[in-house]
Amino acid sequence: MNILKDRFGRTFPYIRMSITDVCNFKCGYCLPNGYQVDKSDNRKFLHLDEIRRLSKCFSLLGVNKIRITGGEPTVRKDFFDIIKVLKFDSGIENIAITTNGYHLDQKAELLVKSGLTGINISMDSLNQETFKNITGHDRLPEILRGIKNLQDAGFENIKINAVLLNGINSSEKDFDQWSKFIEKNKVDFRYIELMRTGDNLEYFKKYHISSKKFKKYLNENGWIYQTFGKDSGPSLNYINPKFKGKFGIIAPYSKDFCKSCNRLRITSRGDLRLCLFGNTGINLRHLLKEDSQIDELKNLILKQMQFKKESHYLELGDTGSTKNLSKTGG
Ligand code: 5AD
Ligand code: SF4
Repeated sequence: MNILKDRFGRTFPYIRMSITDVCNFKCGYCLPNGYQVDKSDNRKFLHLDEIRRLSKCFSLLGVNKIRITGGEPTVRKDFFDIIKVLKFDSGIENIAITTNGYHLDQKAELLVKSGLTGINISMDSLNQETFKNITGHDRLPEILRGIKNLQDAGFENIKINAVLLNGINSSEKDFDQWSKFIEKNKVDFRYIELMRTGDNLEYFKKYHISSKKFKKYLNENGWIYQTFGKDSGPSLNYINPKFKGKFGIIAPYSKDFCKSCNRLRITSRGDLRLCLFGNTGINLRHLLKEDSQIDELKNLILKQMQFKKESHYLELGDTGSTKNLSKTGG
């Protein structure tokens, strides 16, 4: 039974934990000038023992899925140690990561062997030039090889996320390209609507587009909307029996987006974030020093649940304290 519950009846079986802000890509909507050290915050990123204690605590609070994010989580030298700890010491069943796919071709085998249950790859285009322009890295071929290597090693649960960008990756041709890709590939591909953050106002104005056009494309091409599963979270999912993969849409500005929120976030420095946007949440680190603090930690997290708001209020133009998503892992 899940015991993390807010005032609006939502339960939280899912944690997203960022383990670093550092990223080696330069995505135009996130870190256009690359990662810069945050001089106003000299706290270190969560260390292995803190991650172990925190994940154990969440497991006792009924959490059954954790996603490790960044920045780019695989840049941490102890990345595989972290996965091992989650796998063998936390008690959490599902362990997933979100990665930009850097060196995925070389890492695929190790990732599969590590016992991960899900991998999300951020890949904004299947066009090599477009991919390079968005991320600042000509690495599409390496990522595609990585996906193939994951599949050859028998890995099933692969999701690909692309941020939908007006005039960059939002044409029928782009949709067709993805469609061809998932016809034979068992992966879930999702477009995420671009979110406005403190840092990307100009970019947002230029490139934000609603997912309506993609929805229309799905409706016209035989894709069937799949109603929510209990733990499915805020993505709208579409199936087509002729295709091995699935399509999905993540539309954070849509009216009911927050209703199906099933996740809490931990930042790389150990702040509990109740919402991706907004600054409600507190630091947990003082209770991550000793294994014996676990009951106190549990109580503090439980108490915080009453502060979770009903919605992110993004539609009112509120970006909360989120400068860019490299801190909270999207
Ligand atoms: N809007 C939407 N998605 C974003 N991501 C990063 N910044 C934004 C933004 N402003 C995505 C990344 C990745 C995921 C972790 O979040 O592309 O897929
Ligand atoms: Fe890095 Fe992800 Fe931000 Fe791109 S979106 S710069 S991959 S953290």
